[in-house]
Amino acid sequence: MLKGKHIILGITGSIAAYKAAYLLRLLIKQGAEVQVVMTPAGKEFITPVTLSSLSGKPVVSEFFTANTGEWHSHVDLGLWADAMIIAPATASTIGKMAHGIADNMLVTTYLSCKAPVFVAPAMDLDMYAHPSTRHNLDLLRSYGNHIIEPATGELASHLTGKGRMEEPENIVAVLDRFFERKQSLAGKTVLVTAGPTYEKIDPVRFIGNYSSGKMGFALAEACAEAGAEVVLVAGPVALKTGHPSIRRIDVESAAEMYRAAVEAYDHADAAIMCAAVADYAPETVSDVKLKRSGEERVLRLKPNPDIAAELGHRKRAGQYLVGFALETNDEESNARSKMAKKNLDFIVLNSLRDAGAGFRCDTNKVTVIGREGKPVEIPCKLKTEVAVDIVDLLARCMNEGR
Ligand code: PMT
Repeated sequence: MLKGKHIILGITGSIAAYKAAYLLRLLIKQGAEVQVVMTPAGKEFITPVTLSSLSGKPVVSEFFTANTGEWHSHVDLGLWADAMIIAPATASTIGKMAHGIADNMLVTTYLSCKAPVFVAPAMDLDMYAHPSTRHNLDLLRSYGNHIIEPATGELASHLTGKGRMEEPENIVAVLDRFFERKQSLAGKTVLVTAGPTYEKIDPVRFIGNYSSGKMGFALAEACAEAGAEVVLVAGPVALKTGHPSIRRIDVESAAEMYRAAVEAYDHADAAIMCAAVADYAPETVSDVKLKRSGEERVLRLKPNPDIAAELGHRKRAGQYLVGFALETNDEESNARSKMAKKNLDFIVLNSLRDAGAGFRCDTNKVTVIGREGKPVEIPCKLKTEVAVDIVDLLARCMNEGR
């Protein structure tokens, strides 16, 4: 997967800088083209000569070459790259990256980089555990960077505790997996529903729910990152979409979401139903604001269409349908009966009894339940990370024809 990829390897001033030479060698062995960018402190730990002979390219660390005055363009470098890896990344560089302090070539290149960025921290355990470092790492995550921490070798979101840099082989494996993922839904079209629906009572009032759309938007983004064309049918939310492969259709009510989703599913290879759709809507909508009266008022509700069930009914051979279940009790059995009733291929269960799961927050904790096999537990982590795991499972099912 790394063959022919352009990679910027950023090296900072840590005792783990020697591992960067191994990492560089592994990347070159895999066929990647690597440009090393070092901070001034990085050069105290490993010589540019070692790195330039391994990469076959002069190391960049200053804005100008001292004797010729040649300008090194961080902008061109940022555009050239398919990925940037900062390994080892010290607390100081992480802090500068988090706050945009562009006082060296490495951080300037990072700020210009359009490609995905991977950060492998390396520092003393106390520095690593310090709230300031944790906060800066969280900031980097929130900018979409991938933090590679030891212990799992995966893109971890929690304090794993070691502070030492991840082993070069594991960093290469993470990168390899990342590029593999980028193609896992290539050529596919995926419909995603997200957010709440609002059911009008009168021109100023509605029945709604707490869904922010964060989980659904993260799924749309993860599908697009995996190479799919995405149709995102979104209820009323305050979120933005920027990915060129996401076509967004904004709707308000369940009836509008139903129409948009049914039409899009016809041309889709899969759908992920993450929206929190109102099950009922007022039977009549007043076209003037209802006035307060001293009397009791009764609001009659009529059932809304079940969008997922309708798509389940229309599902063709080779099409996939994934649902969500938000539960508060008897979680697994409720989720399983929704999966059967709506003819889903698998269902993603989140429970309001779990801390950090469900509506509005940036994290979720879910269990993915399929028709066969054991449920897959995804621990509490960022919704963006949960989305990548769910899309991985979907892509695996689709590519294996399960
Ligand atoms: O948006 P966030 O703040 O990030 O929160 C995420 C979330 C909690 C909304 C999300 O993770 C989630 O659980 N979404 C589904 C919530 C829900 O309404 O579940 P349900 O058990 O009522 O519905 C089961 C499935 O049927 C869902 O896939 C739902 O989209 C679908 N459905 C339900 C009713 C209906 N009329 N039409 C549907 O398509």
